[in-house]
Amino acid sequence: PETLRIAVTPGDGIGPEVVTEAVHCLEALREKHQLPLEWTRFPWPSHAWHEMHGEVMPHDAMAQLADYDAILLGALGDPGPLDDPDRYLLPDSVSLAPLLDMRKGFDQWVCERPARLLPGARQYLADERARDVDMLVIRENSEGEYVGQGGRLRQGTEHEVATQMEVFTRRATDRIVRYGFERARLRAEARRAEGKTREFRTLDGTRRESQVCVITKRNALRYWGDMYTEVFEEVAKDYPDVATHHELIDAACMKFVQAPWAFDVVVASNLQGDILTDLAAVLSGGMGVAPSCNLNPDNPAMPSMFEPTHGSAPDIAGQGLADPTAMLFTTARMLEWLGRRDPSLTMAGRELYAAVAADLAENGGTRRDTREIADSVLARLKE
Ligand code: IPM
Ligand code: MN
Repeated sequence: PETLRIAVTPGDGIGPEVVTEAVHCLEALREKHQLPLEWTRFPWPSHAWHEMHGEVMPHDAMAQLADYDAILLGALGDPGPLDDPDRYLLPDSVSLAPLLDMRKGFDQWVCERPARLLPGARQYLADERARDVDMLVIRENSEGEYVGQGGRLRQGTEHEVATQMEVFTRRATDRIVRYGFERARLRAEARRAEGKTREFRTLDGTRRESQVCVITKRNALRYWGDMYTEVFEEVAKDYPDVATHHELIDAACMKFVQAPWAFDVVVASNLQGDILTDLAAVLSGGMGVAPSCNLNPDNPAMPSMFEPTHGSAPDIAGQGLADPTAMLFTTARMLEWLGRRDPSLTMAGRELYAAVAADLAENGGTRRDTREIADSVLARLKE
């Protein structure tokens, strides 16, 4: 079989610490199942690279990464000591967000951020129904508020005006909404296979096994809000088996706290999805356990990128305290994704997911450092 190649980019802060554990798990799985997998470690993108070369990553970074089948990324960004602005303020010429370059450059137009409160994970909400939180937030990852167009006029003067344009296309809206409905169907199927069902009401009161909720702010941002709503209604006709729902972003934030168990698939714009997924991460036990992936579903020749929702957490970096759980769930998701190319990787992904979930269920409440958590997962993989 062809060998699938992973670009491992540890990044900054706790990134290298959690990525090291992800690689240990990959090694164990490769050895156990003879997986057709290899990887290369890149010291960039990172601020350490910037200190040596004046850039967060080399000029041909994207071309180098394009050769790989997936990118496994730790975390990016290092504010450094806050009393040393030279260290954390990069010049304008340096991209602050290589993450955004990768999403754009490899057309990773889907960002999937599942939020399921697993046994053993910390439950922040007091309501016991919060145990049942199990949703998938799908963030539009290619345009919207993140197009980076705009500028500062009369910069620095008292008459300064900053503009920041948002661009929404029907094509990108249609594909992300459709993707949401497809995932809703797959989730309903997976639940049925596990002998579980969930019920969602449609507007006419009838019941469905899955739901897609689309988020907008159409009462204030009406142009894209109206287009989203129109596209959503059109696409929904192709999925009569899936219930539809709409929330305004502000009300969605409220309901994520009030009744998060009522959501199934949530489709949101780039920025609104960014905000909602930090909230969703907390609903599933916190940043320490929340996986994320940036996918290009149409073009297998372009690498998708897998990074936990959390950042580089400079406050705990270098102490071995970071929870590798989110990184390991993310790695499991990467293996399952690569399973589209080789089914043995799907099995390995499920095995890793099950091992991490089992460790969480057994030891989730106890205080453990990075190594202890990873070793417990590794021991399960080697069973
Ligand atoms: C995320 C992060 C990024 C984003 C930042 C680092 C640019 O918050 O992946 O959610 O806003 O997309
Ligand atoms: Mn974010």
